[in-house]
Amino acid sequence: MSKYITTPIYYVNGEAHIGHAYTTFIADSVARYEKLKGEDTYFLTGTDEHGQKIEESAQKNGKATQAFADEISATFKNLWDEFGISYDKFIRTTDEAHKKGVQRAFEVMYAKGDIYKDFYEGHYCVSCETFFTETQLVDGEFCPDCGRSTNVIKEESYFFRLSKYEDALLKHYNDNPDFIMPRSRANEVINFVKGGLRDLSVTRTSFTWGVKMPESIKDDKHVMYVWLDALLNYVTALGYGTTEENMRYWPASVQLVGKDILRFHAIYWPAFLMSLDLPLPKQIGAHGWWTRDGEKMSKSKGNVISPKQVSDAYGVENLRYFMLREVPFGQDGDFSQRAFIDRINSELSNDLGNLLNRIIGMSGKYSDFEIDSVDVLKYHQKEIDAMNVVLDSLDAYMQNLQTHRYLEELWRLFSIGNKAIEEHAPWVKMKEERKDEALATVALVANILAKAAIMLHAIMPKTTDIIADTLNFSIDNASYKELVIEKKLLKLFNIKQTPPLFPRIEEPLMPEAPLAHPNGAKEETKAVKECAKEQDNLIEIGQFFQTSLKVGIVVEAEIVPKSSKLLKLKVDLGEENPRQVVAGIREFYTPESLINTHVCVVANLKPAKLMGMLSEGMLLAAKDEDGLSLVRPEKPKKAGTPIG
Ligand code: MSP
Repeated sequence: MSKYITTPIYYVNGEAHIGHAYTTFIADSVARYEKLKGEDTYFLTGTDEHGQKIEESAQKNGKATQAFADEISATFKNLWDEFGISYDKFIRTTDEAHKKGVQRAFEVMYAKGDIYKDFYEGHYCVSCETFFTETQLVDGEFCPDCGRSTNVIKEESYFFRLSKYEDALLKHYNDNPDFIMPRSRANEVINFVKGGLRDLSVTRTSFTWGVKMPESIKDDKHVMYVWLDALLNYVTALGYGTTEENMRYWPASVQLVGKDILRFHAIYWPAFLMSLDLPLPKQIGAHGWWTRDGEKMSKSKGNVISPKQVSDAYGVENLRYFMLREVPFGQDGDFSQRAFIDRINSELSNDLGNLLNRIIGMSGKYSDFEIDSVDVLKYHQKEIDAMNVVLDSLDAYMQNLQTHRYLEELWRLFSIGNKAIEEHAPWVKMKEERKDEALATVALVANILAKAAIMLHAIMPKTTDIIADTLNFSIDNASYKELVIEKKLLKLFNIKQTPPLFPRIEEPLMPEAPLAHPNGAKEETKAVKECAKEQDNLIEIGQFFQTSLKVGIVVEAEIVPKSSKLLKLKVDLGEENPRQVVAGIREFYTPESLINTHVCVVANLKPAKLMGMLSEGMLLAAKDEDGLSLVRPEKPKKAGTPIG
């Protein structure tokens, strides 16, 4: 059975941001995974280039629309190439073959009686390229999705009989509970459809930047609605309406989208397909949003993170790992450099990198980098069994797009490896002249690393190729079958000395959180400068992280005689002994009210003496005309938990 994986096609009104990269990374990982398994797989991505929004962006930039679209489309393609995205086709909706395919689809729908001509009057949001009803508008004027003002448009339009497909859609959702992933999102869609579907206006006469009507329907005033045009890319890319050469890949196995465009993919798209008598995709996977500082990132807000900047600083494979590990599929995630660095240091550098280094070191020391697996089963059946359980569990996570669980489980392999080394202590066995046993443990771990590298390949292709090279094998369908499916061991390792793959990161590598702007670096510098003008006290993020903030628990509190302001506290910071902190909070807190409560402490402040008493830290508090309030974690945290 073949596999077909798609990303949404990206609008060409600005450069790629981290949200685009995320969709593309997931799709690329799924496609690579299927290819490694030996499935006949086709992976599509591309750009969405028609519509009023693009026409207006081009005008704003003083460029001809096609030239503008060419330029921005190339920035996406170049970035994906630089990132090693393994697409089989990069479609552009301005491609001639696509336009022909869309016209053909229109003819088919029209001939079937699913498209008719009428008048449309409604409120249109140019930015979202969507019509809204009066009741959907915010304050009678603004777009409920992006908040911009809408325009009242009355125009002649062709309509698609969406209402006709209401029942068929509901039946499909009901019969195919995995059609929308995660399942929790399906209700949203079902309720929307149950609320009643109105026929959809699928042409426009108010602008010209779109696919022209088919010649058989002589009506030059109209161009196609951008969503009809765009959604059809998933089949025109396979040759629908033209060569038909790759139509055998249809229906798609998984179509990845962001939750904001789920409705288009789970309602309009299946209805269009039903009208065309084409089967529906197996699965629509809707991921959540990446926010920045808790705020939605969008080109229009200018608060987007540039994936290029992050990858230049940290490496694209680390970024892939982080994004796929950090967020359960379907949920929103917040991009934080701290969380990113922590995962690199603890999971990539410590768990994986160190294990590989230990194997390089031990194999070199004990047997001149050559180890074989002859004795592994004799001494390590328990670990092999545990490893096989993990290997067998992984596929289901990938099929359900649960990349975070997939990686979490995969990491169990490294725990098995590390534990085996601790328990069997090969260095002791070597001293005791039980070399076979020592080498069996080293070979076990080398096998664990080899199998883990195969399973990690879809997410970190280059890094795992280096691991494979270090262990002297190649990652391909043959090794996947042998080592993962048939559970064989690699017979012989000829280990290479490879420099550490994941050097620890001590300081954030991006001085400021990257503040990318749709118009590029110039605007970015301007924005940063303007910000600096407003508050000339700005610090580098590295300076901020020089402060060690920790959660503390107050274990003792007493008033300081002769002082109206000070309290003397003992605060547990998870260290051997509680620290003494003298704080000026007596006017606002009684000592009793503080016992056993959480506080936030500056933990690396030089000790100072206050009224002759040593103070080894400072409490964070907010003070205004209403008084003083201690800053505390929202939920209980262990003493010593770092803040930042
Ligand atoms: N052109 C349409 C898609 C047409 S598909 C037939 C479009 N393009 S887009 O460029 O605006 O967005 C493309 C994808 O990026 C969407 O899946 C969207 O959800 C995703 N993201 C845009 N911003 C995002 C975040 N901040 N976080 C995660 N993904 C987000 O919509």
